[in-house]
Amino acid sequence: MSVVVLDFGSQYSRLIARRIRELNAYSVILPSTASIERIREAAPAAIIFSGSPKSVFEANAPKPDDAVYDLGIPLLGICYGMQLLVQQFGGEVRDVGARSYGADELVQHQGVFFAGLSGPLPVWMSHASTVHTLPDGWKSIAATKQNAHAAIASLDGHHLGVQFHPEVVHTPDGECMLSNFLNMAGVPRDWTTEHNVERLMQNVREQVGNDGVLLGLSGGVDSSALALLLARAEVKHSAVFVDHGLLRAGEREEVEAALQPLGVNFTTVDASDRFFDSLAGVIDPEEKRKIIGREFINVFREQAEQTGPFRFLAQGTLYPDVIESAGGEGAANIKSHHNVGGLPEELGFELLEPFRTLFKDEVRDVARLLGLPDEIRLRHPFPGPGLAVRILGEVTRENVELVRRADDVFISTLKEFGAYHAAWQALAVLTPIRSVGVAGDERRYGHVIALRAVTSVDAMTADWARLPYEVLDRAAQRITREIPEVGRVVYDITSKPPATIEWE
Ligand code: XMP
Repeated sequence: MSVVVLDFGSQYSRLIARRIRELNAYSVILPSTASIERIREAAPAAIIFSGSPKSVFEANAPKPDDAVYDLGIPLLGICYGMQLLVQQFGGEVRDVGARSYGADELVQHQGVFFAGLSGPLPVWMSHASTVHTLPDGWKSIAATKQNAHAAIASLDGHHLGVQFHPEVVHTPDGECMLSNFLNMAGVPRDWTTEHNVERLMQNVREQVGNDGVLLGLSGGVDSSALALLLARAEVKHSAVFVDHGLLRAGEREEVEAALQPLGVNFTTVDASDRFFDSLAGVIDPEEKRKIIGREFINVFREQAEQTGPFRFLAQGTLYPDVIESAGGEGAANIKSHHNVGGLPEELGFELLEPFRTLFKDEVRDVARLLGLPDEIRLRHPFPGPGLAVRILGEVTRENVELVRRADDVFISTLKEFGAYHAAWQALAVLTPIRSVGVAGDERRYGHVIALRAVTSVDAMTADWARLPYEVLDRAAQRITREIPEVGRVVYDITSKPPATIEWE
């Protein structure tokens, strides 16, 4: 049983789905164009209509398959979703012209949606239209000073609409309201980490049977957690950690030390020569990614020949990847992110993607339960092509060593000041710029290293991290002192968009 979030294009749809999961109920996001068959397949116990950047008055305003209204299950419409419900059931929505945007307050409220809450409630609004006339038999269950219909309910209480956004943190009691909705709809609360681990192990065992699984280990949380899952599920597996020579300082040793004692059957392949040979002379970022992707394939192929056969290739695909590939029509290709996708057909593997239903933080929770040490579980993300995309220019062993040392100093400085988790990701970039400086009494014509630290939730957007000056100061001093080839250190203060997190 699930809660289906029908996505009408709101920036908050994912947030709604995550909130529902935080309340231990399984949620699935489907596009507003999903057919009733697809919705039924998700076994919904309730449906939530998201908001939308569109207005219900637009000619091509998105609408759900009409049959959702015949399913006989509770519906909650948020913002645009509420207005759809009002129109559907014969009420009237009007365009008030001015957008109501930001903090507001429910001055009165009643009924099960607000059970356990009392007094004025802060809520977050973001809309242009409001409900003017309620459908027959519906009633208002909350009001702000300006809006008598801030929340509404059908007579039997099965359909609810809210003009505000209970899913955002600026509606502090939103979690309680959503929980009340789940209770009212009788949605099972069995989406717990413990239950997830059990379910994942059972699914993996059933899918794999007695066949073999090959897994590419990157040392990141997803693939490490996957390796542990395969080990715990006791399926035949071989995890390959490809050391392409582009890893962070101490990464290989850390991954080996963490996974070996946990029963993961894994091999480290030192493939740095072949990666450096193929990358020689290449400066174009896309070309670097393609070469690295290709070399990964070659290593996997050789591994499969030596230790196979493997029926499955395991990948750490997450739910956001699944949502994106379902709804990503026409999206521009900013970077062809390296992963091993596209491999299976060529190599004759079937894909095993146990984490396809999980968000990143849910994988982190699963990893904790499986016993993955925190230094890997909570480590900053690292791109598959490694330090190669942090060198603007040719990837040589010398350049890699330089940027690796700078990265190591930056990260250890963050840890020293207890600021590591103030950044979602932090990194050093070797720029192709040289600048003049003075060291001792000598002229120094050194490299320019750029430091970047960002805050983010899902890497789709990011803001530069406001690190304390003393952290930046210490990092800059240490880098220029400990790496004599570096003459200058700069800090990147660009957000994403318009920049991306990595420089290439
Ligand atoms: P960007 O630079 O696109 O990065 O803002 C978003 C997140 O993805 C990581 N990244 C990659 N990961 N292969 C990967 O596996 C890649 O080619 C790649 N490029 C960027 C980046 O480190 C950040 O966490």
